[in-house]
Amino acid sequence: MQTELSQQLGVEHAVFGFTPFPAVAAAISRAGGFGVLGAVRYTDPDELKRDLDWVDGHADGRPYGLDVVMPAKKVEGVTEADVEAMIPEGHRQFVRDTLAKHGVPELAEGEASGWRITGWMEQVARTQLDVAFDYPIRLLANALGSPPADVVARAHDRDVLVAALAGSARHARKHKDAGIDIVVAQGYEAGGHTGEIASMVLTPEVVDAVAPLPVLAAGGIGSGRQVAAALTLGAQGVWLGSIWLTTTEADLHSPALTRKLLAAGSGDTVRSRALTGKPARQLRTEWTDAWDDPAGPGTLPMPLQGLLVAEAVSRIQKYEVEPLLGTPVGQIVGRMNSERSVRAVFDDLTRGFEQAVDRINRIAEGSGPS
Ligand SMILES: Cc1cc2nc3c(=O)[nH]c(=O)nc-3n(C[C@H](O)[C@H](O)[C@H](O)COP(=O)(O)O)c2cc1C
Repeated sequence: MQTELSQQLGVEHAVFGFTPFPAVAAAISRAGGFGVLGAVRYTDPDELKRDLDWVDGHADGRPYGLDVVMPAKKVEGVTEADVEAMIPEGHRQFVRDTLAKHGVPELAEGEASGWRITGWMEQVARTQLDVAFDYPIRLLANALGSPPADVVARAHDRDVLVAALAGSARHARKHKDAGIDIVVAQGYEAGGHTGEIASMVLTPEVVDAVAPLPVLAAGGIGSGRQVAAALTLGAQGVWLGSIWLTTTEADLHSPALTRKLLAAGSGDTVRSRALTGKPARQLRTEWTDAWDDPAGPGTLPMPLQGLLVAEAVSRIQKYEVEPLLGTPVGQIVGRMNSERSVRAVFDDLTRGFEQAVDRINRIAEGSGPS
């Protein structure tokens, strides 16, 4: 699965893997793909340094990258305390009531609650970049907008390619104007923050909108047939996020969540604002149902919602409260039915890709599919 872009980056397969787990990122690169470590949860630069050391030490010298979240709409000049003060009491009560209804225990005294909004703040993303640019990263990706011009320039000075996620051709054009090198066209099916256009429509639209910039297709890809389809639509590679969540290298810290993912079908996700205030695809749970219920208070905008639910999400995860337990994941969860190593996922992708290409070749030659 070689394209101009994979050759430029020196990887065997044009398969890019986004993951929050260092062990998965390194395994993707070792398997011949391009591992991209999600940095949003690293509010402590030393922790990021420790994990990048690990990736660097376990990628067997293969290239890897980093993904940061610099929202186009900035959360600048406000502290967490300012944001806390904007949260209405009625919403806090709704969180308390929903947790109480399911008997979710409190965290222990002094126990930190999960992720914070700070990972979405530009100044925090900049501290992540200060760390990351000391490593031989080959790609810097940004979610939720184009990275600022000085960040693009800094990356280019170090020979680091810059990618940005786009859910529409309009966003993709903005990225091109901002001087980035690669657009990740992420369709409606994808896990995490996502737009309203399905990959089948979005990929060729973005390919045409930003040509000759290379485009990676994201959203709903988990088999070699789908990789072949994406490349046929004009993409120079694929960008996968959900599929790695049930790999043996992933560290979800929750056997119950892994079981839920393995059991879920493609119809068991929902695009909900429950997690961050922006639409993000995730497992549908009684938690997302409560937030999406018109009889409830509804969600707050980003970053308020994220801060409002951070502690609750940590409690649900820690105590594995099954009806409420979820994670961002895309519709491809319906194909994630067994725990496999990253290497096994790659074997499956490459075999499926070859079979799809053979099939199309037979159709093109008139010898018919088998
Ligand atoms: C658990 C999870 C967390 C994600 N977090 C981020 C993130 O922090 N930054 C980002 O650019 N994309 C994030 N994404 C989206 C992925 O980068 C990718 O575009 C998406 O997963 C592709 O679609 P798929 O889920 O169908 O493979 C996340 C996806 C998942 C499943």
